[in-house]
Amino acid sequence: MSWNTFGRFFRFTTWGESHGPALGVVVDGCPPGIALGEEDIQPFMDARRPGQSKYTTQRREADEVRILSGVFEGRTTGTPISLMIENTDQRSKDYSEVAKAYRPGHADYTYDAKYGFRDYRGGGRSSARETAARVAAGAIARKVIPEVTLTAFVEQIGEVAIDHARFDREAIARNPFFCPDPETVPRWEELVDGARKDGSSLGALVAARAEGVPAGWGAPVYAKLDSELAAAMMTINATKGVEIGDGFAAVTNTGESNADPMRPAEDGGVSFGANHAGGIAGGISTGQPVTCRVAFKPTSSILTPVDTITSEGEATQIRTKGRHDPCVGIRGVPVVEAMMALVLADQKLLHRAQCG
Ligand SMILES: Cc1cc2nc3c(=O)[nH]c(=O)nc-3n(C[C@H](O)[C@H](O)[C@H](O)COP(=O)(O)O)c2cc1C
Repeated sequence: MSWNTFGRFFRFTTWGESHGPALGVVVDGCPPGIALGEEDIQPFMDARRPGQSKYTTQRREADEVRILSGVFEGRTTGTPISLMIENTDQRSKDYSEVAKAYRPGHADYTYDAKYGFRDYRGGGRSSARETAARVAAGAIARKVIPEVTLTAFVEQIGEVAIDHARFDREAIARNPFFCPDPETVPRWEELVDGARKDGSSLGALVAARAEGVPAGWGAPVYAKLDSELAAAMMTINATKGVEIGDGFAAVTNTGESNADPMRPAEDGGVSFGANHAGGIAGGISTGQPVTCRVAFKPTSSILTPVDTITSEGEATQIRTKGRHDPCVGIRGVPVVEAMMALVLADQKLLHRAQCG
């Protein structure tokens, strides 16, 4: 299986499966001399970790990260950084029905169609356990872009959206939904718990924002900052849509209402009157916050019976038991943030290589 590598200058390759002994990532191209220890990575692992509330999967993993190479006396050496995370709470017997029949919406059928063979335990390589490795790589990427502040949060679950007028950045870390609107939290508690009890699942919209990106990152034509971001987000499991800035809402804007008016700033730079473009024009950052939104579909593994076929092509129904996230978008938040960091670190190095 190839295509497990992402990035151009700051490149990472993830490895491992859901129920293997461990998974990990090799980060190549990280500049030398950056202070790095496991303690810099662990807080981000802890934010993504499963089993922290009844609103996510009950698989319990410590997700302790170990640095195996590329760091000497607390600083990156410029050589490949290898990180490993052990899998400790596998329960392969939960997946006996998935071994025989395909979960509609999951990767079971397509992996068999492509490879003729699959590790069905926990979804194998298609499991979002893989995203733990990206979050670890993302923590290193953040060290390459200290000028950037990243914020990601859940904006909507099912039909229930936050009220942006009540946006409180500090609130995001204080609830199990990464919700910036404290008044929406109890509504989501009821909604997600209801879906869990019904053996169903829910979709979610995750928003992310990068402040401090200077003008000039990104490259025309085939490494546009927006195309790299969209590609990065679409690699996340269960992602079905990505918007940059106003995204699809721009369709109903006019040229006037969609403009981001420019004025000379007091410091001699530029001051923008709006940010419909999401901080990117012509594939290059404008200096405004870079914004995107990611649509996550509802979890495919549900307890409600769904029509499917067996690997022999017989009609059957599947009820997926085992431990699953009732709304995968919630735990998608740290993954979205990590992918944004990884793209921005790569683009910073790409810009430096060409323009100094
Ligand atoms: C953080 C996270 C957790 C996930 N947890 C589950 C899960 O518990 N059960 C499940 O069926 N899918 C889960 N998924 C989604 C599947 O991994 C994904 O649907 C599957 O690999 C098929 O890929 P696709 O949906 O991108 O086409 C999760 C996704 C993310 C981002």
